[in-house]
Amino acid sequence: MLLSDKRYKTIENVSYKVYNKRKRQLFFKGVKILKDFCYDEWTSRVLEQLQKGAFLTVQADGKMNTMTIGWATLGYLWKLPVMTVYVRRSRYTFDLLKNARDFTVSVPLDGQLKKELGYVGKFSGRDMDKFDQTGLKALPSERVESPAIAGCNIVYECKILARQTLEQKHFNDLSLYEHIYSDHDLHTVFYGEIVHYRKF
Ligand SMILES: Cc1cc2nc3c(=O)[nH]c(=O)nc-3n(C[C@H](O)[C@H](O)[C@H](O)COP(=O)(O)O)c2cc1C
Repeated sequence: MLLSDKRYKTIENVSYKVYNKRKRQLFFKGVKILKDFCYDEWTSRVLEQLQKGAFLTVQADGKMNTMTIGWATLGYLWKLPVMTVYVRRSRYTFDLLKNARDFTVSVPLDGQLKKELGYVGKFSGRDMDKFDQTGLKALPSERVESPAIAGCNIVYECKILARQTLEQKHFNDLSLYEHIYSDHDLHTVFYGEIVHYRKF
C-alpha cells in the first residue's frame, strides 16, 4: 500500500510527548508506530546475516531494483531508529537512490534465497530486470513506496533522511582507503529512518 504525502506526514508528526507517555505501545489510527521496537531479539541474527547479504530494494521514477548489501548499520540517530546502507556510485541502485524517498532492506534468516542473493549481488539492474531473471517477488510495503522482497523473515522500511559520500580526506588511515577504494568507487551512505519493521 502506498501512502499519500498527507498520511505520511501525519504519522511522522506524532509528538514525542505522546510517545513518551505511552512508552512501549503507540498506535496511530490502528497502526503501530515503531520507534524503539525495531531492535529486538532478532537484531543480532540480522547483523549476522548482513555479513552474508540482504536485499536492498528501491523504487524511484517508476523504476525498481534490488541488490545485495553486506554493509549496513542499525542504531539511533537524531533520536530516531536509523539504518544506514553503503552503496558504491557505480551501482544502478545508486542511480535510483539519488532520486528516491525511501528504500527497504529485506533479510532472509533461514538460509533461503541464497542463490538469489548471489545473483542480484553480481549482476546489474542496468542490464536486466532482476525480478524477471531470478523469480524474486516484490512485496508491497506498508509505509514506503519501495517494495520489499517476499520470502524474507525481516523487512525494514526506511525513509531517506540524509546521504553522505565518503571521500579520501575522511579517512584517518589511508591504507584502509587504498585497500578498499583502489578503484575510487566510493560508497555513499544513505541514512534511512526505520518507519516500519515487519517480521514474517
Ligand atoms: C554479499 C554481498 C554483499 C555486497 N554488499 C554491497 C554493499 O554493501 N554495497 C555495495 O555498493 N555493493 C555491495 N555488493 C555488490 C552489489 O550487490 C553488486 O555490485 C550488484 O550487482 C549491484 O547491482 P546494481 O547495479 O543493480 O545496483 C555486495 C555483493 C555481495 C555478493
